[in-house]
Amino acid sequence: MRRIPLSVPVMRGNEGRYLQECIDTNWVSYVGPFVERFETAFAQAVSAPYAVAMQSGTAALHVALLAAGVGRDDLVIVPDLTFIAPANAARYCGADPVFVDVTPDRWQLDVDKVGRFLEQECERGADGTRDRTTGRRLAAIIPVHLLGHPVDLDPLIALAERHRLAIVEDATESLGSSYKGRAPGTFGICGCFSFNGNKIITSGGGGMITTASHDIAERARYLSTQARDDRREYVHESVGFNYRLTNLQAAVGLAQLEQLDAHVARKREIASRYAKGLADVPGVTLPGEAPWARSTFWLYTILVAPPAARTSRELIDALEAEDIEARPVWAPLHEQRPYRDARTFGLEHSGTIHARAVSLPSSVDLAAEDQERVIAAVRRSLVAVAKRSA
Ligand SMILES: Cc1ncc(COP(=O)(O)O)c(C=O)c1O
Repeated sequence: MRRIPLSVPVMRGNEGRYLQECIDTNWVSYVGPFVERFETAFAQAVSAPYAVAMQSGTAALHVALLAAGVGRDDLVIVPDLTFIAPANAARYCGADPVFVDVTPDRWQLDVDKVGRFLEQECERGADGTRDRTTGRRLAAIIPVHLLGHPVDLDPLIALAERHRLAIVEDATESLGSSYKGRAPGTFGICGCFSFNGNKIITSGGGGMITTASHDIAERARYLSTQARDDRREYVHESVGFNYRLTNLQAAVGLAQLEQLDAHVARKREIASRYAKGLADVPGVTLPGEAPWARSTFWLYTILVAPPAARTSRELIDALEAEDIEARPVWAPLHEQRPYRDARTFGLEHSGTIHARAVSLPSSVDLAAEDQERVIAAVRRSLVAVAKRSA
């Protein structure tokens, strides 16, 4: 039986042709026309004034936080349920994350709880907002638009303005989605995207920072190219990074970007087929869309009910036995060793969602008959659990 992977790249456009062009012209490294073309096309695709290509989504987050002014001993609000990169990026800046809970319905950063944290645990002063207990400055919030669905941004922006915090959006999983008709990644001081292999478009590896600020774009470009103040004489006034995307990667990224709409349409088709096929399975909660959201359903993720917390892991094992790749979502960040001492607020749902969530195969080229195989296997496994516990 053919293995059904979770989410793999699909290269059906100009990828080969553009790569050949790089080889033929010898533009293969950090400079080259495809880097600029990819940046311009990406800025257009999300309607951002500026886009600066990076080597990864993590590098984008690191540079975006630095460009937003995050520094040593600052605090950065991060959702407790997400891939670890945004917390790590805060640490790279010498700051620490504060983990706030996610909502039980959409699993996104809980904006009400962010507000309560800022009102109850922090104090506004002349130089911004500080943690009332430690006196540490709150510098930024990273709303992570998880699994293709946007965070509720309007109330978050109001909070950030009131408390003078920068918003650096982690839109790595949500390219192609929209919040009230506009692309996530264009609301904060910066938006960050990833093009690693399992994302909706890939450049092999890569990332992008979007911003409406010319100065931030220039700062991001400067920091990601080793902070060279005098390019000829190699004069450096700051510690920079080698975070630029290569022309080869940008060539693939551009070809993929040309197919973004088709990829989004396929992800949404896959989501509606799962929704139909799994609607009546006992104990399953399907992902939806908030009224103000258009989701890409980047990874189609269901919640399976207890009887036992292990049901979701049994389901993953049952699918694996049929050569179908499924996986849990990320373990809560406050439980990860580097962050066990981090400040937290309002944690109620991140652990339960981690215990119950299962992401199902969602590749853009998932064949209809393969998806039927997945649906049938999920049904079999969960019906068996329901019978056992009846
Ligand atoms: C939410 C989130 N943030 C950041 C990243 C980091 O992106 P990259 O792997 O390109 O560094 C990813 C994906 O890997 C992610 O899912």
